[in-house]
Amino acid sequence: MGKEYLIAGNWKMFKTVAESREFVQALAKEFTAFPGLEVAVFPPFTALAATHGLDPKIKIGAQNMFFEEKGAFTGEISPLMLRETADCVLIGHSERREIFAEHDEDVNKKLKAALQFNLPPVLCIGETLPEREAGKTLAKVRLQLEKALQGVAAADMEKITVAYEPIWAIGTGRNATPGQAQEVHHFIRQMLQEMAPGKKIKILYGGSVKPENSLELLVQEDISGVLVGGASLKVDQFSAIIQNALKLLRA
Ligand code: PGA
Repeated sequence: MGKEYLIAGNWKMFKTVAESREFVQALAKEFTAFPGLEVAVFPPFTALAATHGLDPKIKIGAQNMFFEEKGAFTGEISPLMLRETADCVLIGHSERREIFAEHDEDVNKKLKAALQFNLPPVLCIGETLPEREAGKTLAKVRLQLEKALQGVAAADMEKITVAYEPIWAIGTGRNATPGQAQEVHHFIRQMLQEMAPGKKIKILYGGSVKPENSLELLVQEDISGVLVGGASLKVDQFSAIIQNALKLLRA
């Protein structure tokens, strides 16, 4: 069974509408479609409509959403609305959890709402530095996965992508070694197999991914792509990571 890769860029609170459009158009010129390669960027909400469908090779995702369909929830955006302008949605990014106090229960509700509205979710999980140092990485990841996926039907599991992002590696320049990442990815893969036997679920690595470390991460058996923050803001860096995935797909 050949490997498939998803190379995803989380832009966080960066880029105006004009900058987002310009980026997508420039990135589209940097690579050609290839079987097994999927590319997605996650611009801010304001730039979703302007980038969605700009180029068929580049999927557009949202960085967050609320779990209700509609109602008196000032400032929130629903899956029903996102479905018009996004192909997928990030759920439970560590910045949402840490800065905006999103709990596992919210993450679970959001994940189920995304599935209900046919918006494939990218579920983010990962441990803090003290948790890693205390040897609690796998326990934390297990707990987050179990809570996030509670009540999700096995038939829906294939629509989910999991992103393992150790919090100590996000925006710090300190990435997990390929061995550290593979160990956790393998553990997640086993858990997902138990929950949904036979389903093919992508597991991305995120946390200070750059062109220089992407190849050795992507080559790991249970790593099916990367979720890139900082390095996804520059066309040359993000496309260099895509080129590394293409190199492995063509090998
Ligand atoms: P980083 O961010 O690549 O800048 O570490 C990754 C993320 O937060 O998804």
